[in-house]
Amino acid sequence: MFFKKKVVETIDPGNVPQHIGIIMDGNGRWAKKRGLPRSAGHRAGAETLKKIVVFCNSIGVKCVTAYAFSTENWNRPQSEVDALMDLLYNYLQQVEEQFGGTNVILRVIGDRSALSDKINKAIDHAEEYTSSNTGLVLNVALNYGGRDEITTAAKAVAADIAEGKRKPEDITEELLSGLMYTKDVPEVDLIIRPSGEYRLSNFLLWQAAYAEFWFSNINWPDFSEKDMTQAIIDYQKRNRRFGKI
Ligand code: FPP
Repeated sequence: MFFKKKVVETIDPGNVPQHIGIIMDGNGRWAKKRGLPRSAGHRAGAETLKKIVVFCNSIGVKCVTAYAFSTENWNRPQSEVDALMDLLYNYLQQVEEQFGGTNVILRVIGDRSALSDKINKAIDHAEEYTSSNTGLVLNVALNYGGRDEITTAAKAVAADIAEGKRKPEDITEELLSGLMYTKDVPEVDLIIRPSGEYRLSNFLLWQAAYAEFWFSNINWPDFSEKDMTQAIIDYQKRNRRFGKI
C-alpha cells in the first residue's frame, strides 16, 4: 500500500537550521483584510509565533529570534504602540500559559532602557520562569535595532580602550560577536520574512552576514508549520559556501 510521506518527514534532521530569524510582517494587512483593527493582527501574530516556536523546538532548531518591536516602531501611531506594548506585556506576564510545558527558554533582546518598569518586570518574570528549561531559545527582539546593537558594541569597546583595558588592535570579529545579543546562541542560518516584503529592516545586521533568506507572500498570522517546513526544505537545498568556492 502507498502512504503519502508527510511533508515534515522530508526535512533532513541532520541539516536543520540551528538559528532562525523571523520578521513577523503582515499583521496589519491580515487584520485589514478581515475588517479588524491592526491590534487584532498583532494578537494573531503572537499566537502564530507560539505555534511556530513549538514546532521549531520539536524538529531540533536551537534558537528562534523574532522581531517584535523595532527601534523605529515608536514612530507608529501612539494607539498602535500602546496596543503592541499591552500585547507584549500580557504575553510575557502569561508565560506559564504561553510556554509552560514546552521546554522553551524565553529571552528578550534589545534596548530595555526605553521600556516601562512594568514591561521590564514582566520580562524578568518570563526569563526567570523559563530559565531552567533546556530546549529552544526564543529571543523576542523588543526595542531592537541592528544598528543600535552594533553601535552599543562599538561604544563598549571604545570605553574599554579609553580606560586602557584594550588596544585598538585587539578589536576582532570574535570580540564584536561576543558583544552582540546573540553571543551565546548558534550563528543565524536562516532569516524568514513573510508578507511579500524583501528587506532586512534593521534586523540582525551583524548576524545576517552568511544567513540564507526565505521570503513568502503569506501574512505572518497565516504562517503555518507547513510553511516553516517548506522554508527549511528550501534552506536544505542551498549550497552554503561562506565565501569559498
Ligand atoms: C509587522 O507587521 C509587525 C510588527 C511591527 C509587530 C510584530 C509583533 C507581533 C507579531 C506580536 C507581538 C509579539 C509577541 C512576542 C507577543 P505590520 O504591522 O507592519 O503589518 P503590515 O505591514 O501588514 O501593516
